[in-house]
Amino acid sequence: MIDSLKEALTLSPDNIPLRMSLADLLLADKQYSEAAEQYKQVLQRSYGHQKAQLGLAHCYFQLGNFSAATVVYEQLEAQLTDHDLLRYIKCLVKDNNLAKAAGLYQGLMVLQPAMADAELDQLFRLPGGGPAPDESDDEYWETEESMFMEKPDIDFSKVGGMQKVKEEIALKIIQPLQHPELYKAYGKKIGGGILLYGPPGCGKTFIAKATAGEIKSKFISIGLHHILDMWIGNSEKNLHEVFDTARRHAPCVLFIDEVDALGASRADLKQSAMRHTINQFLSEMDGVSASNEGVLILAATNAPWSVDSAFRRPGRFDRVIFVPPPDEASRDEILKSLLADKPAEQIDYKKLAAATPEYSGADLQAVVDICIENKLTESMKTGQLSALSTKDLLAAAKQHKPSTREWFGTARNYALYSNESGHYNDILDYIKKHKL
Ligand SMILES: Nc1ncnc2c1ncn2[C@@H]1O[C@H](COP(=O)(O)OP(=O)(O)O)[C@@H](O)[C@H]1O
Ligand SMILES: [Mg+2]
Repeated sequence: MIDSLKEALTLSPDNIPLRMSLADLLLADKQYSEAAEQYKQVLQRSYGHQKAQLGLAHCYFQLGNFSAATVVYEQLEAQLTDHDLLRYIKCLVKDNNLAKAAGLYQGLMVLQPAMADAELDQLFRLPGGGPAPDESDDEYWETEESMFMEKPDIDFSKVGGMQKVKEEIALKIIQPLQHPELYKAYGKKIGGGILLYGPPGCGKTFIAKATAGEIKSKFISIGLHHILDMWIGNSEKNLHEVFDTARRHAPCVLFIDEVDALGASRADLKQSAMRHTINQFLSEMDGVSASNEGVLILAATNAPWSVDSAFRRPGRFDRVIFVPPPDEASRDEILKSLLADKPAEQIDYKKLAAATPEYSGADLQAVVDICIENKLTESMKTGQLSALSTKDLLAAAKQHKPSTREWFGTARNYALYSNESGHYNDILDYIKKHKL
């Protein structure tokens, strides 16, 4: 086969597909120098041919020319297959670029644990080697190893109320992922971002996690501590690696919680380290270095006024959604969901929902927790375990003040005095309607 391809090429030396086949065969046959020669020939005739570049890097890797391989891989970082990525990581190790190698390897392990490599495991993760982490093992997800990944264990059915938010996410995130061909046919790019904002405890983080469970795509979450790490400079390269991991696994949802930590307040912006992080984030989001096609970005904040306005430009977070405190019907649903697996009598949810105006989802969670504590104390006295009742829950609600009003106090000032381009009209409408 190799011989006949060589012969064919003497007759038609510029036939690229033919030459690529020969190069690939030589590579598979472990004739690395010859394969490299053929890939170079392809590149002379077709500058920038990506498959040839990767083939050449593979040969360099096998021939022990790690720095040459690194140059190629670095350039094509966002497009690497898992196998190329693994070779790239090994090259970085040989080049003593351990920080970058560790970051990439951890990202790869989270998404593709089957790609585990004994040598790299030993170097980065498990002293003395050991089996690859099992994604279905709950303990694994509690370790730092899972870095920026979270295991989605809820879906929309667990989220009470929030109908409008669910619809927006379905329209902008779930449907594009499930029908990419449709969106392509209409020339609509799949990507971009949604920013969720509102009082704390009203389900922003919760619904983002549920989005992950709702779709069968990869989900990467960057929390506050990751952002701060980047800011302080503990992990400069992390941001780029997080985005690259998302791109490599498109379609993928990238969630940035407490994005205001990234935006900081206007006074903080003068700090150049922060400015640098923001700029890096924006250029990653704009896809300056690599295409973000198929990467959907979801962010949440309690303090939208602290989010740099540059985040809202078209193509960035161009959809901004207010997540209000749950209304009565939503509280009814949330309470049902919170009590679903608890020993409870027939509960009058209507009555409870009516008795808890201004309570956030987190407040309702607190009410249920208090109620359970009360019950436990009681049962220790009586020696009997009794189910939660409507009366118990109403009593618990009296012990916990709703937390959303305070947020509206702050929000009102921003909405009234710095509401350029009507960003916060939803807040004003809400305040008016509920006479806060
Ligand atoms: N719509 C909801 N349905 C069910 N539980 C909710 C809902 N909203 C909030 N909760 C509960 O309140 C907790 C806090 O919500 P969270 O999403 O962290 O709020 P936020 O991110 O808006 O500050 C959640 O972990 C969940 O237990
Ligand atoms: Mg949150």
